[in-house]
Amino acid sequence: MNLLIMGRPGAGKGTQAFNIRDYYKIPHISTGDMFREAIKNETKLGLLAKSYMDKGLLVPDEVTIGIVKERLSQADCKKGFLLDGFPRTIAQAEALDVILNENGVKLDAVLDINVQPEILIRRMVGRRVCKSCGATYHVEFNAPKVQGICDICGSELIQRKDDTEETGRNRLAVYDSNTAPLLEYYKNQNILKTVNGDQPLEKVFDDIKVVLGA
Ligand code: AP5
Ligand code: MG
Repeated sequence: MNLLIMGRPGAGKGTQAFNIRDYYKIPHISTGDMFREAIKNETKLGLLAKSYMDKGLLVPDEVTIGIVKERLSQADCKKGFLLDGFPRTIAQAEALDVILNENGVKLDAVLDINVQPEILIRRMVGRRVCKSCGATYHVEFNAPKVQGICDICGSELIQRKDDTEETGRNRLAVYDSNTAPLLEYYKNQNILKTVNGDQPLEKVFDDIKVVLGA
């Protein structure tokens, strides 16, 4: 299954992507996670990405498209994949079509996790992420069993640098101007599946399984 998960910042893409990855046994490809890994490793890509991400702006298309093209060429993507956070612009979506065409595959479905913007700042500011395995928590809505410690691997939970109220608002505005038009793009291709993301975590995943035909 070749999938794409979309939604506003904080909508629950990463959270549901973990469920989808485990349930459908496909690799989870998050451009945000790839950039954060590059920042951690202090690579040239990391330095460049950081200058945009810290302000809530998009990393330039040519850089982002290049790393996704390379990732999709790896062997584990032959059995399917789940893209999270890419594409985010019409130019990226058109580039993805070209890459998939070259690889002889197509997207089976685009999931839109729909959440109204008002509650998303609270979700972002309260988010905590495992610095080792990447599992996502929330101080109120999805708290770990032991504060500050990952339930899965026992590592420390950290807060993302872009999870402040100010940067969160910028990210929501960037989504509206650059990414929201993609919903129409995929609706026209008849592969858009909208799921209500303003429900308990487990219910959102149940609905995802239903729209994907489990
Ligand atoms: P990225 O990492 O993709 O961030 P984002 O799109 O802003 O989305 P988030 O990761 O913030 O939210 P999410 O939907 O994954 O929510 P989560 O599941 O964590 O991108 C970061 C930056 O990288 C961008 O700003 C840009 O600079 C750059 N970038 C990345 N891709 C790019 C691209 N293609 N082009 C250019 N630049 C790019 O959930 C959020 C919180 O809510 C968690 O605490 C969670 O526990 C909680 N939660 C989740 N679901 C629920 C629920 N149902 N009920 C209650 N709480 C919930
Ligand atoms: Mg995410």
